[in-house]
Amino acid sequence: MKKGILIMLAMMLSMASAQTIKSPNGKLTLKFQLTSEGTPTYELMLGKKSVIETSRLGIEVKNGNGFTEGFEISKVDTTLVDETWQPVWGEVKEIVNNYHELAVTLTLSSEKNRYVVIRFRLFDDGLGFRYEFPLQENLNYFIISNELTEFNLAGDHKAFWMPGDYDTNEYFYTTTKLSEVDATFGVNVNEITAKTVIGKNAVQTPLMMKTADGLYINIHEAALVNYPAMNLVIDQKTFVLTSHLVPDAVGNKAYMQTPHNTPWRTVIVCERAEDILASKLILNLNEPSKIENTSWIKPTKYIGIWWEMHVGTASWSYADVRNVKLDLTDWKNLTPNGRHGATTERTKFYIDFAAKQGFDAVLIEGWNIGWEDWFGQWKEEVFDFVTPYPDFDVAELQKYAEQNGVKLIMHHETSASATNYERRMDEAYRFMKKYGYDAVKTGYVGRIIPRGEFHDGQWMVNHYVHVAKETAKNKIMLDAHEPVRPTGLHRTYPNWLACEAARGNEFNAWSQGNPPEHETILPFTRLMGGPMDYTPGIFEIKMSHYYPDRKEQVHTTLVKQLALYVTMYSPLQMAADYPENYEKHLDAFQFIKDVAVDWDDTKILEAEPGDYITIARKAKGKEEWYLGSITDENARETKIKLSFLNPKQWYVATIYADAKDAHWEKNPMAYEVKKYLVKDKTELKLKLAESGGCAISFKPASEEEVKSVKKY
Ligand code: NOJ
Ligand code: CA
Repeated sequence: MKKGILIMLAMMLSMASAQTIKSPNGKLTLKFQLTSEGTPTYELMLGKKSVIETSRLGIEVKNGNGFTEGFEISKVDTTLVDETWQPVWGEVKEIVNNYHELAVTLTLSSEKNRYVVIRFRLFDDGLGFRYEFPLQENLNYFIISNELTEFNLAGDHKAFWMPGDYDTNEYFYTTTKLSEVDATFGVNVNEITAKTVIGKNAVQTPLMMKTADGLYINIHEAALVNYPAMNLVIDQKTFVLTSHLVPDAVGNKAYMQTPHNTPWRTVIVCERAEDILASKLILNLNEPSKIENTSWIKPTKYIGIWWEMHVGTASWSYADVRNVKLDLTDWKNLTPNGRHGATTERTKFYIDFAAKQGFDAVLIEGWNIGWEDWFGQWKEEVFDFVTPYPDFDVAELQKYAEQNGVKLIMHHETSASATNYERRMDEAYRFMKKYGYDAVKTGYVGRIIPRGEFHDGQWMVNHYVHVAKETAKNKIMLDAHEPVRPTGLHRTYPNWLACEAARGNEFNAWSQGNPPEHETILPFTRLMGGPMDYTPGIFEIKMSHYYPDRKEQVHTTLVKQLALYVTMYSPLQMAADYPENYEKHLDAFQFIKDVAVDWDDTKILEAEPGDYITIARKAKGKEEWYLGSITDENARETKIKLSFLNPKQWYVATIYADAKDAHWEKNPMAYEVKKYLVKDKTELKLKLAESGGCAISFKPASEEEVKSVKKY
């Protein structure tokens, strides 16, 4: 009896005081504590360094007291998890999931014993935590008006940020101290169709930061399902970042019905920038695949009728009229404009090229009726997704593609009318399957319908996940453009191969473009949540090639475009330029043909956000390695040890390098290709031009090659 009381007393004491856990390697410490008002707080340390100082947690509820203070700890659970799992596709063959968990149950005795669980998972490379609202007697439905989660940073860190926005992630990044962030400039960017900037001091996640003493911190979220996306509002004096959720059409943030969990809030923290890129924390916080049989899911390299529309030599639309209606327009008798890209003939030309050059698939945009006035009207019924233009023969192309062993990728631009898409998707997916398509690229350009909703609010977050589920049911692979930024859901829905959800290469065709540093920041920001369909591989760098007075250009060298196939991880990679442009540079094109899209292993060899990245990857099931190295506007020299290679083997390294006088602006297309015999002991010297790159393939050398190819 006495012993029982003592144990109870000890438990009560321990619950009143701080709860602490350490990461498996002991370096990170997480401390949870209630304030004297019963407000939950947490704190994160790396050794003796503070990463997140005492920060408030809490959720405000509409018409109620919410979950902000007055809590008591009613239960504490801790566990250690150490397991390994295999992704369906990925950067590595196996992923270790190793963390210490602390789950604190907090009860509001003033509110009829309502409770919430705050679950923390502490990995060696960072922290994830979320709010869980289990099914309980006194809590069913509630509306979140604000999430109060704070990230109280220990200093005025350098940040790689883009404006906080409810609708778009297609800005380029700016690098400043937190105190110097001014996100209102985004209002002046007129090349983004739908944008809703939050304010001067609000930024998006993934937010990449570097502290004065060289620590790398990345804040994002994992498993964003049935909840709005999180932006961060910066207090520019105290460096406290506070969660700012995307609202819905009537100003609410999230509609909850228990049991209901929020997404995980993630803080990745590493002493080396390379380890940020290698982190699997966000994937580990997502649920395992919900698709049982995944054999139909295939990493894909594709070409497409696409860049020519962005450049302007072809059009998505069939006719040059400005007012059409799905059911009233006489589509067969429209006068063709003579520039329509998606014709049967041009598609066959792409299929031929794909078959000859070994590509898996061809994407065709502008194949379906509706493009004449798709843009800018906030129109509900722009596309029906099942009626081809008169000059696009679906049945004939199905036959032709099959005969040539090439897959076709369907395009569903929704014009952001998600209601229209949801009404028509069943029929659209049936149409796809009937004509042999098993991959779709979706798009959400423009202001969202239902009107008043935003791209990143709860309604649209649910829509994107709905599309992932419906496509999975139909064994269709998915590539979403203009969705909310990814949060690792491709683990749960591996048919969701990629998203755009950032400023892609397309901006280089028709806007001020992407600055030379852009691709050195994306892996540290946007790609933390998942693969990007960046559409690399532009060889004809300057748009003046097509129109003499055009100033637009890709802000890289040609070789940097090659290196992106390795540095920008995606199981879906496009060779985005015209086949005609590849025909002119078949020696450089060889790298795009060879490079893998699925990997056994990945080595982040060197990286610094905003400056440079060098990555080597081993092709899935092969002894081949591919290396990509890129730099920002500064030229760069670096030495790379090939210790990742199998020491028992000689390799032929084909090195695609910027020519001596290459320069992204002055001479972007100058390159050289050289072959050398190399080994694990070899140290390569790479020279990258201003906004240049280097791409290398390593293939096992034959006996003949060991004798004939020159040693490095
Ligand atoms: C924007 C997408 O990012 C792009 O790839 C597509 O071609 C256009 N929308 C048209 O749908
Ligand atoms: Ca886009």
